[in-house]
Amino acid sequence: MLEEKVKKVIRDIPDYPKKGIIFKDITTLLNNAEVFKEVIDYFAKKYKDIDFVCGIESRGFIFGSAIAYAINKGFVPLRKKGKLPYTTVSEKYALEYGFDEIEIHIDAFKDIKNPKILLVDDLIATGGTAEAAVKLIQKIGGIVVAAGFVIELTFLDGAKKIRDLGIKVDSIAK
Ligand code: PRP
Ligand code: MG
Repeated sequence: MLEEKVKKVIRDIPDYPKKGIIFKDITTLLNNAEVFKEVIDYFAKKYKDIDFVCGIESRGFIFGSAIAYAINKGFVPLRKKGKLPYTTVSEKYALEYGFDEIEIHIDAFKDIKNPKILLVDDLIATGGTAEAAVKLIQKIGGIVVAAGFVIELTFLDGAKKIRDLGIKVDSIAK
């Protein structure tokens, strides 16, 4: 089963980036050709009919762009503040201490009406990042069909924030 395979290849790093946090290292999934491909194919099979894949900087870029390529659709990067060169819309979200902000290009979905979007990130923890991403996509007219994650930290219940927005959460490893 894919969930088991993913759990097996992801490496837990205790006390990174600080004491008490167990970091989920996905590099050991990325360098495993078989599991990396199966992860991409899992989403590609289910979301063939969307218009764009949106990936969240930075690890969401790796999975999101590969999925977009696999289904022959465009990829839209949601970037941390100040990185996108053209006109953007932005959304703030809370971190443990303070705030961060992500942005999208205002014309990212071109002139497609009600574009269907698959949002992708490597991991959902508190859900703050993904919630901001959903709001950004909606601000420029996108319809988020689902939010896909390779890993969901269920004890933080971040998926609830996304479901409360009426959006399906599709995580491989819980
Ligand atoms: C991590 C992870 C998600 C986000 C999840 O990214 O890749 O994007 O945190 O956290 P949340 O659900 O509590 O909002 P990070 O901000 O560390 O940046 P990176 O992907 O650039 O490493
Ligand atoms: Mg991230």
